[in-house]
Amino acid sequence: MKLHYNLLHGLFDCLNNTLNNKYYAHKSIELIFKKSKKWGSRDRSFVAEATYDIIRYLRLYDKLSNSNYSYTKKNIWKIISLWIYFNIDSKTNFEKLWVFNKEEINKAKNILEKKRVYRESIPDWIDELAIEEIGEKKWEKEISSMNNKADLVLRVNTLKTTKKNLIKKLYNQNIHCEEIPDRPNALKVIKRVNIFKTIEFKLGFFELQDASSQLVAEFLDVNTKHKILDACAGAGGKALHIASLLNNKGNIIATDIHEFKLKELKKRARRNGIHNITTKIIDNKFIKKNKEKFDRVLIDVPCSGFGVIRRNPDSKWKLNRKDFNRILNNQINILNNYSKLVSDNGIMVYVTCSIFPSENEKQIALFLNNEFGKNFKIIEEKKISPHDSGYDGFYLAKLKKKC
Ligand SMILES: C[S@@+](CC[C@H](N)C(=O)[O-])C[C@H]1O[C@@H](n2cnc3c(N)ncnc32)[C@H](O)[C@@H]1O
Repeated sequence: MKLHYNLLHGLFDCLNNTLNNKYYAHKSIELIFKKSKKWGSRDRSFVAEATYDIIRYLRLYDKLSNSNYSYTKKNIWKIISLWIYFNIDSKTNFEKLWVFNKEEINKAKNILEKKRVYRESIPDWIDELAIEEIGEKKWEKEISSMNNKADLVLRVNTLKTTKKNLIKKLYNQNIHCEEIPDRPNALKVIKRVNIFKTIEFKLGFFELQDASSQLVAEFLDVNTKHKILDACAGAGGKALHIASLLNNKGNIIATDIHEFKLKELKKRARRNGIHNITTKIIDNKFIKKNKEKFDRVLIDVPCSGFGVIRRNPDSKWKLNRKDFNRILNNQINILNNYSKLVSDNGIMVYVTCSIFPSENEKQIALFLNNEFGKNFKIIEEKKISPHDSGYDGFYLAKLKKKC
């Protein structure tokens, strides 16, 4: 494969922004795509895939390049050189690339890969925590499966089209999809393409949403008579799905603490042709005013993301143990506080995209044993393992408020 210098510079910029300027990988990639309008789809996919792959295996590349977590220009070029060597057959002799002794590097890699923290590239603290949380045997399987590339999964917006029609329209553009068992509105795209460029996306015929995340709206068990709150709605992935299940009827209140996320939600709702969602900032005033008002409350809490590492490999490098503890505190506070919004006989669904019990069933146990949870009982629970399902790791708990 011939690697053009502008692609290598693009890859360098993505890594520099992610490693030194603390951008998420997807943001760095988005930025470089905006700057490089002339790149074709192969160029774009080279830069995106190389960036993700390097971030996924950063600890291994870091060690082999002797970078020691200092990402100077020279070290980034060393890492790029190693990635090219291990992943593609290329004879590029770009002067910035590092010339190393292949035999020594192969030997060093073989030795390092005997240890999981290098083989799977994970910080020690996550490895230790994961063993405490789910045991070494299970962790080994989960982390290895989460280092695979994530599938591209769509959710058909049934307000605008049918699954059959969307499959046909995409097929006509050489985009082949397959259905996913037990996910009525999901389609897996077989070959990676820039799906956002299709007219069907622009017209709101589908959203990108992982197969596990598509379980949540159905789990909430809604009908048009319910007063529904999506309390941590963010940019609305799940709220849009609920709206579409309700056939655009009823009323969903979508709240978050960040206005910019709700703005994005409104933009997506417009594209989807949805008009049964009202957005609001959630604060103490909202909670006081809406005590026991909602029949359905979805709490899709902020979490470590240790079920979606496949999609966001950055999360391995951006968090530390202190952050993790802060996340745990935040989750139980949100659960305690927002449970006040549930009406008698109402249902609250707690969701995380983590596979760690301390963010999941242990939070629910804490809640049920404290004063806020005393009137609730758990009626259903789902744990989705990335290794077993092939999709994102999720936890869902359905709690009913007794009268
Ligand atoms: C896991 S994300 C939600 C994703 C979203 N439900 C979706 O499906 O696209 C968690 C969200 O909680 C929001 N958040 C953080 N603290 C919060 C709080 N105290 N109350 C409400 N939302 C909060 C974050 O801004 C973030 O958007």
